Amino acid sequence: MIPTLEWTPAGVNFPASIRFLDQTKLPHEETYVLATTYDEVATVIRDMIVRGAMAIGVSAAMGVALGIDRSTATDIPTLNKEVAVICDTLAATRPTAVNLFWGIAQVRDLYNQLAAANTPIPEIKKQVVALAQRLYDEDIANLRILGAYGAALLPDSGTILTHCNAGALAACGYGSALGVIRAAIEAGKKIDVFADETRPFNQGTRLTAWELLKDNIPTTLICDNMAGYFMGQGRIKAVIVGADRIAANGDTANKIGTYSVAILAKEHGIPFYVAAPFNTIDPATPNGAAIPIEQRSAREVTHVNGVQVTPTGVGIQNPAFDVTPAKYITAIITERGVLRAPFTDSIAKAATN
Ligand code: MRU
Repeated sequence: MIPTLEWTPAGVNFPASIRFLDQTKLPHEETYVLATTYDEVATVIRDMIVRGAMAIGVSAAMGVALGIDRSTATDIPTLNKEVAVICDTLAATRPTAVNLFWGIAQVRDLYNQLAAANTPIPEIKKQVVALAQRLYDEDIANLRILGAYGAALLPDSGTILTHCNAGALAACGYGSALGVIRAAIEAGKKIDVFADETRPFNQGTRLTAWELLKDNIPTTLICDNMAGYFMGQGRIKAVIVGADRIAANGDTANKIGTYSVAILAKEHGIPFYVAAPFNTIDPATPNGAAIPIEQRSAREVTHVNGVQVTPTGVGIQNPAFDVTPAKYITAIITERGVLRAPFTDSIAKAATN
């Protein structure tokens, strides 16, 4: 299994920590970053050492648990103040993936309950750490269920296009979009993958290609501007992507470029699937226009491998995500089943399951 992130319990001479596979170094180096404080976890998320909505969500939950676990507070009022700072720090890292806020809320809500009941601090620590570890296990279990639902939708053979990395690296394991592909292959389907390179951060080039090859899944890398060509040639049987936030009406934020791929798929009559665990759906966000879009550094666009490729002074835009309107989405695959239009109804119904 790909060790995207892992809670490391305290030993006699060292504190608890979280070990992250450094995704900025892939595919050339498999190195790890150890975060021993919640501040370090925030940096790891902000700098995209860990990235991908599900991985961000569980990392944030573990970050809150780590902050509480390492606190030296001896009374609840002091710890309350520290927990507020921990949660605010982690919440300020990346704005688009709702899983970040979900992960923080999971641990904060348990903390609030235990603190309100005047639970002894050592017991609070034990319970929040156990919860964070449970969320890790549940992420993988949910993605396996989601994968099985999605696998049934894919053709028995042919090429599936994906954009960005919605794989084991974007989660605690297995992946959402790539989890569906893994499940289809496990079920005997003869699937191969076309991966968009996903400029400017190159998640397709560096991460999707790396993790699929590691699993011996036949993979072809294409530049972002080639998808229409291959669709026109009849090469692509379906598109499957992950999601960073799905609004209550089904509008879906995912990596920049997803919207263009969805329109191309519609034009060519190719099914366009979104695969995401249910905690990526944000009932508090009514539609795509309300989803905050992260703007990242110009340097990600101006530089390739540390070398500037643009003339100095050119204007740069770098939105990290775009929103695909629900009308372009054939189905949203979750661990609660396959949701179809009208999404406002199917999402609301699945929320009660
Ligand atoms: O900026 P990133 O690499 O965190 O963006 C990741 C994506 O957009 C993924 O497609 C998305 O998180 C779905 S997979 C969990």
